[in-house]
Amino acid sequence: MKAFDHRKYRPAPTVAMRNRQWPNRTITKAPRWASVDLRDGNQALLEPMNVAQKKRMWALLVKLGLKEIEVGFPSASQPDFDFVRWLIEANQIPHDVTIQVLVQAREDLIGRTFEALSGATRAIVHVYNSTSTVQRERVFGMDRAGILAIARRGAELVRDEAAKYPNTEWTFQYSPESFSNTELDFAVEVCDAVMDVWQPSAEKPCIINLPSTVESTTPNVFADQIEYFATHIARRDALILSVHTHNDRGCAVASAELAVLAGADRVEGTLLGNGERTGNMDITTFAMNLYSQGIDPELDLSNPDEIIQVAGECTNLPLHPRHPWFGELVYTAFSGSHQDAIRKCLQKQQSDEPWQVAYLPIDPRDIGRDYQAVIRVNSQSGKGGVAFVLERDYGLTLPRWMQVELAQVVQKASEEKSGEIDGGQIHALFMQHFVAADRDVALKGYKLTRDGGHDAIAAEIHDHGQLVQIKGDGEGALSAFVAALSRHTGHRINIVDYTEHAIGAGTNAEAAAYVQLNVNGQRSSGAALDHDTVSASLKAVLAAYDNASVRLKTVDELAA
Ligand code: KIV
Ligand code: ZN
Repeated sequence: MKAFDHRKYRPAPTVAMRNRQWPNRTITKAPRWASVDLRDGNQALLEPMNVAQKKRMWALLVKLGLKEIEVGFPSASQPDFDFVRWLIEANQIPHDVTIQVLVQAREDLIGRTFEALSGATRAIVHVYNSTSTVQRERVFGMDRAGILAIARRGAELVRDEAAKYPNTEWTFQYSPESFSNTELDFAVEVCDAVMDVWQPSAEKPCIINLPSTVESTTPNVFADQIEYFATHIARRDALILSVHTHNDRGCAVASAELAVLAGADRVEGTLLGNGERTGNMDITTFAMNLYSQGIDPELDLSNPDEIIQVAGECTNLPLHPRHPWFGELVYTAFSGSHQDAIRKCLQKQQSDEPWQVAYLPIDPRDIGRDYQAVIRVNSQSGKGGVAFVLERDYGLTLPRWMQVELAQVVQKASEEKSGEIDGGQIHALFMQHFVAADRDVALKGYKLTRDGGHDAIAAEIHDHGQLVQIKGDGEGALSAFVAALSRHTGHRINIVDYTEHAIGAGTNAEAAAYVQLNVNGQRSSGAALDHDTVSASLKAVLAAYDNASVRLKTVDELAA
């Protein structure tokens, strides 16, 4: 067998279900969120959080609106124990937030766990043991009965220990660890046994938390497992069904979403998906998925930059720039066709209608991102992005044909530079290529006489250092000027297209004019800006005329 050989593996079992209900359902409400950042997330770090980092993470989780927060594994770690004590003794737990702690189903550890929680108003004690075939057979060397006995004993110890602290409102949680790799009938049997010990009710339910400790199937199989469990457990009415997915196959969020369809009420996860191996289910992604469907995520995710900063400082893990919803690049379009579509949609989007912008599943402003980052230009970008940037940053609305020409100039510059071209550089290229004040042919002044629909123009122009007077007439100032220029130069000059618009208003207003000429059978474009509309159009004609001989500078020359 060679090293990379798929025959080494077996497909995970699927669930034989005839009448599965989850595919017909939709999510209409946020599940109960439970953060495990301070436990599962923390246990997965190269350097676990110190107390200061735990306090920062705690404050962030509370601020975001998480109401159930697993704060550690106090029987296994002194810093976790101390942190739980600090939360309780320093009165840090808001009245609507419940802390949760994890413990293995072992007598010595359970006693210490309750010690850590002494004095808490309310708490969830989360006890677990492994139930999967591989754990039973290869790790513990036990049969089903042995594993069941551990779970039952753990449940009894939790029940009995809790009774010693009657002033705390307890909720018990049990996880059959590695549930998704456990035979379903056995997972149900173990959880039934635990619930028999705890005797929960609809009024005082326990939490049964079903983990995909290592994700090993497609999300639909996990959903089947959850639906099977929910429809086979003896006392469904007396439990909160929770799921805890990991991301080994990159589907932790999808698995949790389908699990909710399949009946899960509660979802455990971490901010930005920190956790063992490929991480835990990312609460921020699931919540933003809901938000983008018009469902209240019941978390305040309006400031992801704060989440990224605090979570990053606590975990020492950077965020991938393409992380769903919050990555640096997720509201940025480099591709020309995407940019074009975004620009068109943004122009049409009304503030009082549902969001309908191609390539932008949400309005980036909702999460504190602005449109500055939306369109960035590199060699993959086309006219849309270039036009968007000039309009957004400089108020210049280029006609389509000029967008196409400028996009080629920008693409060439970007290729030369092997990278992104910013708004300032695009503007510089536009000015240098189409406007350029230092031309061989330039307007000095003009006098226009109007007689009905007929215009006569007398203009003074610099032509290669010489000041010359040119005269012409036509219908409108532009055709009169082109006629004068044709006569003066001896070239055949026609106007192919002409566009103008105002930039700004009042005394500071300027006119922008864009002209495409045909000079002796060749098309050539020019543009100009001036406080006077006629001057702008005449200068644009001269720029277009002069353009045949303009030498393009590279971006780097421009920047120098
Ligand atoms: O991934 C897992 O199975 C866990 C359990 C302890 C719930 O973290
Ligand atoms: Zn986990």
